[in-house]
Amino acid sequence: MHPLLEKDHQQLIDLLEALNKCVSKGQSKNQAYKYLDDFVTLAEEHFKNEEEIMETYKYPEIVDHKNEHTSLLEQLYSLRSKLRGGHTPFGTPYMKLLRNWLEDHLLDTDNKLEEFLYQVNANNNESNN
Ligand SMILES: [Fe+2]
Ligand SMILES: [Fe+2]
Repeated sequence: MHPLLEKDHQQLIDLLEALNKCVSKGQSKNQAYKYLDDFVTLAEEHFKNEEEIMETYKYPEIVDHKNEHTSLLEQLYSLRSKLRGGHTPFGTPYMKLLRNWLEDHLLDTDNKLEEFLYQVNANNNESNN
């Protein structure tokens, strides 16, 4: 995986873990909102970085991958505003949703991109030899 993307992925996982602990231990709501805001900000930045890399390497599945990012962010915004409006209890089902969201995207969609970048790299090394 591209080192920058890998670092982002790890940070996203760590933030979600911190948020999860905060929620499951019933710690302060403000702290949970803070983690959630950080998570949203990092996801936005990460998607942007990843999309730039896809453009640079002319990734064939860029459109689908970008659409997935967009719809993931929309879900996140909608959940966040529901939470803020007090319409969704901040609890385990919500955490499960976020976790699935992240795992599915990292393991499937991002993994395909990773394989593509690996292949590009291998081909470049071959043509340099
Ligand atoms: Fe992605
Ligand atoms: Fe990613």
